[in-house]
Amino acid sequence: MRTVRELSTAAAAVVLCLLGLVSLSCAGRVGGGSRQNLAVEKHLRRLNKPPIKTIKSPDGDIIDCIHISNQPAFDHPFLKDHKIQTRPNFHPEGLFEEKEVTSEASERVNPIKQLWHVNGKCPENTIPVRRTTKDDVLRASSVKRYGRKKHRTVPVPKSADPDLINQSGHQHAIAYVQGDRYYGAKGTINVWEPKIQQSNEFSLSQIWILGGSFGDDLNSIEAGWQVSPDLYGDNNTRLFTYWTSDAYQATGCYNLLCSGFIQLNSEIAMGASISPVSGYRNSQYDISILIWKDPNEGHWWMQFGNGYVLGYWPSFLFSYLGESASMIEWGGEVVNSEPNGQHTSTQMGSGHFPREGFGKSSYFRNIQVVDGSNNLRPPKGLGTFTEQSNCYDVQTGSNGVWGHYFYYGGPGRNPNCK
Ligand SMILES: *[C@@H]1O[C@H](CO)[C@@H](O)[C@H](O)[C@H]1NC(C)=O
Ligand SMILES: *[C@@H]1O[C@H](CO)[C@@H](O)[C@H](O)[C@H]1NC(C)=O
Repeated sequence: MRTVRELSTAAAAVVLCLLGLVSLSCAGRVGGGSRQNLAVEKHLRRLNKPPIKTIKSPDGDIIDCIHISNQPAFDHPFLKDHKIQTRPNFHPEGLFEEKEVTSEASERVNPIKQLWHVNGKCPENTIPVRRTTKDDVLRASSVKRYGRKKHRTVPVPKSADPDLINQSGHQHAIAYVQGDRYYGAKGTINVWEPKIQQSNEFSLSQIWILGGSFGDDLNSIEAGWQVSPDLYGDNNTRLFTYWTSDAYQATGCYNLLCSGFIQLNSEIAMGASISPVSGYRNSQYDISILIWKDPNEGHWWMQFGNGYVLGYWPSFLFSYLGESASMIEWGGEVVNSEPNGQHTSTQMGSGHFPREGFGKSSYFRNIQVVDGSNNLRPPKGLGTFTEQSNCYDVQTGSNGVWGHYFYYGGPGRNPNCK
C-alpha cells in the first residue's frame, strides 16, 4: 500500500498536470497514463460540467442535467458577462399557422421523442447534455479535433471547380436557394437509421444556413439528424447541430462540444438519440427544424418540433451571418471512403431512391425560408444538386399539404454506382 505522503504527492502531480503547469514530467506520472491520457482527462473535465441530476438512457448514453448558467457556452471569453436572452423577440410569422395535415399520407406521420425521456426529466433551469466519454474523445484523430468536422464539407452546387465538389469523398443530394438575403430556414425532415459501411463514414440529413462565399471564412449553421459511429460510438440516429465561422478550420463544433451555442431548453439534448425512426413501408416519423435570426439582437435561434425553442447562437460568433445568410441548403450527405476502391454502400436517407416515394424514400417537406420581413416563405428558384445521381439522388415537388418538398437519398453502391 502507498503511504499517505506518496498519495498526496501523486494527487499534487495530477493537479499540476491538469493545470498544464508541468508538462514533461506529467507523462507516466499519473496512474501510468500517457500525455494523451492527461489531455483527454483535461478535455473531459472542461466538457462535462458537474451535473445537478443524471439520467441513464437505454442506449447507454448518460444525460447530465447541467445548471443553465454553467453550460459550455459560458467558457467563452466573450460570453463571461452575457445576459442570457430567455426568449426570442420574434418568431417568423406563419410559424404557428401551419395547416393541420389531413392527407392520407400525412396521417401516418407521427411525432417524435428522444430515447432518454423514458428514464426521467431534467429539472427547471437545467439543460440536458450528453456526457462525453473517454472513448468518444479517443475515437477522434486528436483531442483537438474531437467534436469538429474534418474537412470543408459544404456542397457547392454548380461549382466550376470539380475538386471542390468531390472533396474527400463527401457526397450530397440537396435542394438549395441562393442569390437573396435569407434570415432563416425551416424544414420537416423524415427520420431514418441509414446503414454505415465503416466507422469512419457517416450519413446525415440537415439544413445548412450559409454566409459568405465558399472561401476560408465561410459561415455555417447546421442542424438535422446524423448517424456517425466515429462521433458517438454507435449506429443510432441522433439530433445534431454544427456551426463554424471559418469554413471548419478553427471555430465551431457539433452540439455543445465547444463554447458557442446557448441552450435554454430542458427537454431536448443535442447529440442524443431520436426514437422511434421510420421503417420501410411502415410508420413514418419526422422532425421539424426552424432556424431564424432575431431582428433585434441578431442572434440565430433554433426551434425543434413545434414547440421546443432550443436556444441560440450569439451573433458575435459570425461575420457574414452577423448580417444575413446568402444561401440555404436542405438535404443529405454521406462520406464515401471508397473501401476496396469501390463505392461505399453507406446509405443516405432511407437507403432508397426518391422515385420510390412516401414510406420508402426519405423526404424534407414544408421547406421554407425566412425573408427580410421575418416571414416564412416558399423557397424561390429552388435548385438541386448531387455528385452522382446513380448513387444518391434528389427529386423536388410541391403540393397544398407538404408545400415545397423533396425526396432524396439512395443505397450508395449498386449496379449503377460502383
Ligand atoms: C465525382 O467522382 C465520381 C467518381 O469518383 C465521378 O464519377 C463524378 O463524375 C465526379 N463528379 C464531379 C462533379 O466531378
Ligand atoms: C454499426 O454497423 C456496422 C455495420 O453496418 C457494424 O459493423 C458495427 O458493428 C455497428 N456498430 C455498433 C457499435 O453497433
